[in-house]
Amino acid sequence: MHYKEIGFVNTKEMFRRAYEGGYAVPAYNFINMEQLQAIVAACMESRSPVILQASKRVRQYVGREFMKSMSRAAIELIRQSDTPIPCALHLDHGDSLEECKRSIEDGFSSVMIDGSALPLDENIRVTKNVVDYAHEFDVTVEGELGVLSGLEDDVTREKSRYTDPSSVEEFVDKTGVDSLAVSIGTAHGVTKVKLKPGESWPSLRFDILKEIEIKIPGFPIVLHGSSSISQEYTDMVNKYGGNIQGAVGIPEEQIRKACRSCVCKVNIATDSLLVMTAVIRKILHEDTTVFDPRKYIGPARDELVKMYIKKNKEVLGSAYKA
Ligand code: 13P
Repeated sequence: MHYKEIGFVNTKEMFRRAYEGGYAVPAYNFINMEQLQAIVAACMESRSPVILQASKRVRQYVGREFMKSMSRAAIELIRQSDTPIPCALHLDHGDSLEECKRSIEDGFSSVMIDGSALPLDENIRVTKNVVDYAHEFDVTVEGELGVLSGLEDDVTREKSRYTDPSSVEEFVDKTGVDSLAVSIGTAHGVTKVKLKPGESWPSLRFDILKEIEIKIPGFPIVLHGSSSISQEYTDMVNKYGGNIQGAVGIPEEQIRKACRSCVCKVNIATDSLLVMTAVIRKILHEDTTVFDPRKYIGPARDELVKMYIKKNKEVLGSAYKA
């Protein structure tokens, strides 16, 4: 079914307003029902536009039918409210035209085609194919230039390669994409950089971001790999039996600064995985008699709601912009 019949919107108007308003729309990845419920609850409560985001692997994990039903339930809940928030359903890191087609068939309103590991002209060719197809259905397309390091569902890259500002104009013109993911120092996963003892976090490359903005003024930029990996939750995981070492995220002030400029979409996945794991570990550690999953997944969902609201209010600036 087409996304408009379901109630989703594409990202065009969301990004236009975000650009003008100096904030970014949260793109929260979800992997299960409770996470999706928390995202919807938090964004409705803080009156933030939202992009619900899922990768191909997650669709395989959840199952195609469940993915369709879960996302429809989410938008139904939003539509039932007196003041619905704009909500897009986005394919994260699409790897082929076929995957993007499948998503559009299933009601996605926006897709990413990730050709960032390819040479520029090949990336342009692959991305343009997806744009030509998606635009027939008024589905928006995110492309990517530059390579992020780190490990994520569908992406494993050893080394990052910053986006070259001199190619963004050509990429955007030749492909017709609606937004562009760039590499300015963020990274996927739990360890964004390897810090030596006493070393503080290096700044994101705001100089590159500025150059990109000058080359393509008014064009919406996307930041992947933007979890802040709060020390509170990594400590909690480790205290209650986990072993996550060397976890370092992107300082929230830096994400906030990026959102004030041309960055209109910020991807966050790992922070929510950490929160769930931390809360579940704590509960199971403190009460070894618990066997009802609602007793630990429920509180994890409550904690997620708090985290998403905080992100919307204090980091992305998207609260009360719906
Ligand atoms: P994090 O791993 O920093 O949450 O990034 C997620 C992401 O970019 C999804 O595409």
